[in-house]
Amino acid sequence: MPATTRNLVSLVFLSVILVGSYGTSSRFDNATNTIKALLKGYDIRLRPQFGVQALRIGMEIIIASFDSISEVNMDYTITLYLNQYWIDERLVYSNNSDDNLTLTGDFAENIWVPDTFFANDKNSFLHDITEKNKMIRLFGNGSIVYGMRFTTTLACMMDLHYYPLDVQNCTVEVESYGYTMVDVIMYWRNGKDAVMGVDRVELPQFDIKEYKTVVTIEKLTTGNYQRLSLSFKLQRNIGYFIFQTYLPSILIVMLSWVSFWINHEATSARVALGITTVLTMTTISNGVRSSLPRISYVKAIDIYLVMCFVFVFAALLEYAAVNYTYWGGKAKRKAKKLREKNETLYDKDDNENRNDVSDNIELRDLRLSPILGIRNTQNFNIDVEENSNTSPSIHLGSSMPRAAVSRSYIGNNLIRRKSASGALPRRRKLFTHFRQKAKNIKAKIPRVQDVNTIDKYARLMFPLLFIIFNASYWAFYLMQ
Ligand SMILES: *[C@@H]1O[C@H](CO)[C@@H](O)[C@H](O)[C@H]1NC(C)=O
Ligand SMILES: *[C@@H]1O[C@H](CO)[C@@H](O)[C@H](O)[C@H]1NC(C)=O
Ligand SMILES: *[C@@H]1O[C@H](CO)[C@@H](O)[C@H](O)[C@H]1NC(C)=O
Ligand SMILES: *[C@@H]1O[C@H](CO)[C@@H](O)[C@H](O)[C@H]1NC(C)=O
Ligand SMILES: *[C@@H]1O[C@H](CO)[C@@H](O)[C@H](O)[C@H]1NC(C)=O
Repeated sequence: MPATTRNLVSLVFLSVILVGSYGTSSRFDNATNTIKALLKGYDIRLRPQFGVQALRIGMEIIIASFDSISEVNMDYTITLYLNQYWIDERLVYSNNSDDNLTLTGDFAENIWVPDTFFANDKNSFLHDITEKNKMIRLFGNGSIVYGMRFTTTLACMMDLHYYPLDVQNCTVEVESYGYTMVDVIMYWRNGKDAVMGVDRVELPQFDIKEYKTVVTIEKLTTGNYQRLSLSFKLQRNIGYFIFQTYLPSILIVMLSWVSFWINHEATSARVALGITTVLTMTTISNGVRSSLPRISYVKAIDIYLVMCFVFVFAALLEYAAVNYTYWGGKAKRKAKKLREKNETLYDKDDNENRNDVSDNIELRDLRLSPILGIRNTQNFNIDVEENSNTSPSIHLGSSMPRAAVSRSYIGNNLIRRKSASGALPRRRKLFTHFRQKAKNIKAKIPRVQDVNTIDKYARLMFPLLFIIFNASYWAFYLMQ
């Protein structure tokens, strides 16, 4: 009894396994046969609805990532999922539209697929890790979904007039390569909803302000093609440039103003400051230029950097002006003085020599005797003796008239005359000395004032002009 039950149980098991294995193989066979039946007599070269009407192909794009935007190459790289929807009446295998069959991309080699391409594509590749990122889904009613994931570099001609305060319009252009509008009509599936994932995109340097889906007709010599374009409005984030370019430039320009507060006689300090700021501006503009293509037109950042350069350069020139008015003026005055001296050589020499003589006299006086009366007599005697005997010098010649006069007066009123003439040069000397000093001071005052005026105006004008420039610059570029 137990043996028969065991036999019975094992028999039931066996039959279950047999039935199960039969069911599995039949399911596979059924699908295999279905596919085989579908492809039997299928001509891959002919599009669906051939000779009846244009095939409508729905497009759907899901943005996986927005990788980079390059101004130098004028392109951007984007990774996306592209889904294409169409109906192939030859591939209907069930009346139930819920029936569907998902196959790998290899199956695409067995059926007709659209020859879609990206009109502005520079370089693309289909990802093939771990397998080709491609799929085909066949629905029972003949609907087909053909999906793939790839990364593409698309051309985007950028208008950099407003760089880096610019807004760019980059597009994805989808088109059938061979089939004109007579054969294939493309459309955005569900209109604008055909594009997904834009709100998830994070770009380091740009914000996607908006995107649009447009359908246009491309008229080429080979016919009219339907083109779907998806365009992104990309606004550049100014933040990077504020910290990398604008702020440093502003600070360098302000640094160049420090020169106006440094004493104009500190030549090395002011020149070094000026040249350093000029060179720093050059470095900053070089850094900016390296990340841009060689565009001939003027960009917004060029205007700013050039103006900063001009300000820094003007600060250096201001010092040149200050220095010239100071030293140049001094040299001019010196030359003028020299000329005057040459013109009134005799007069002046006479005067000066007289002063010199009286100086000598005084010195000698001091050396010789502390007593005024003795000093005068002795000094006169020495003077005359020296003049007449020892040296036939310029000194002698120039003081000739006086010596002659003195000599003619040699007599009994000698001491009196000499004492009077000894007091007179001293007073005169003092007077001329003061006059000279006053003259010097007078010559000095306007000069110093001149230099200060240039610096003083510069202190006011440079910041003022810079503020005006900044206000107009930012007003102009931020208003548009
Ligand atoms: C095989 O396919 C037919 C129609 O295509 C369906 O009616 C049947 O249920 C399928 N059999 C299995 C085992 O899936
Ligand atoms: C679908 O249904 C129609 C009748 O409604 C039938 O003639 C046709 O053979 C069916 N097709 C398939 C694939 O089952
Ligand atoms: C076929 O079935 C799919 C899935 O249910 C559906 O989206 C599609 O509109 C159907 N196609 C037709 C022509 O009915
Ligand atoms: C595909 O078929 C399965 C059942 O076979 C169903 O659950 C699923 O919803 C179908 N997918 C679509 C997109 O119709
Ligand atoms: C981008 O430019 C094209 C052509 O000028 C225009 O049709 C489209 O609307 C623009 N896109 C955006 C987002 O403004």
